[in-house]
Amino acid sequence: MDKNYTKLVFTDSVKQAQERYGARDDNAHRETSGDRYQLTEKEIAYIQSRDSFYMATVGENGWPYVQFRGGSRGFLKAIDNTTIAYADFRGNRQYISTGNILASEKAALILMDYPSQQRLKIWAETKIIEAGDDTGLLQQLQMPDYEARIERLVIFDIQAYDWNCPKHITPRYTKQEVQGLDLSG
Ligand SMILES: Cc1cc2nc3c(=O)[nH]c(=O)nc-3n(C[C@H](O)[C@H](O)[C@H](O)COP(=O)(O)O)c2cc1C
Repeated sequence: MDKNYTKLVFTDSVKQAQERYGARDDNAHRETSGDRYQLTEKEIAYIQSRDSFYMATVGENGWPYVQFRGGSRGFLKAIDNTTIAYADFRGNRQYISTGNILASEKAALILMDYPSQQRLKIWAETKIIEAGDDTGLLQQLQMPDYEARIERLVIFDIQAYDWNCPKHITPRYTKQEVQGLDLSG
């Protein structure tokens, strides 16, 4: 199946901009990269070792909204090679991302790994299931070390993904990562 990211983001306006700035030829070859939207073991391992990600959603008025999502390491889980999901806890009760997803299923995620200077972008059609409506999935997504009340399950049906280049990602370390560093050499 051919669902690579250029199909979603190389709109006519983007192609015109590439043309205008002399980058169209460099970008055209990316449009033929085929069916790489299915996650491989590499992406699954990367996703399941994150402790946070950024999620962009779109309101019905067209405004994008980006929110940071943080949790225990591994709270974003792969269900299969085209589906990832997390349990959404009760938070500040503004429900902006939730409302946006109800208005438009489209979401874009960015998953950072600062120590290894990597970032993975994901485009997904997103749905929300109330926590009580799928107890099997709820159990799969629950984090044993985090006791807050799960309100809903957020499920991403991945349409495309792309690894970005590491340039300009400053290595940063969590306290836990610093404690695990071998500084002897
Ligand atoms: C009691 C409480 C718990 C929260 N827990 C989390 C959390 O686990 N992860 C997180 O990223 N934000 C947490 N937040 C911050 C936001 O409430 C949360 O990100 C929320 O989902 C924001 O959604 P929205 O900006 O889409 O409305 C918490 C806030 C409160 C008040």
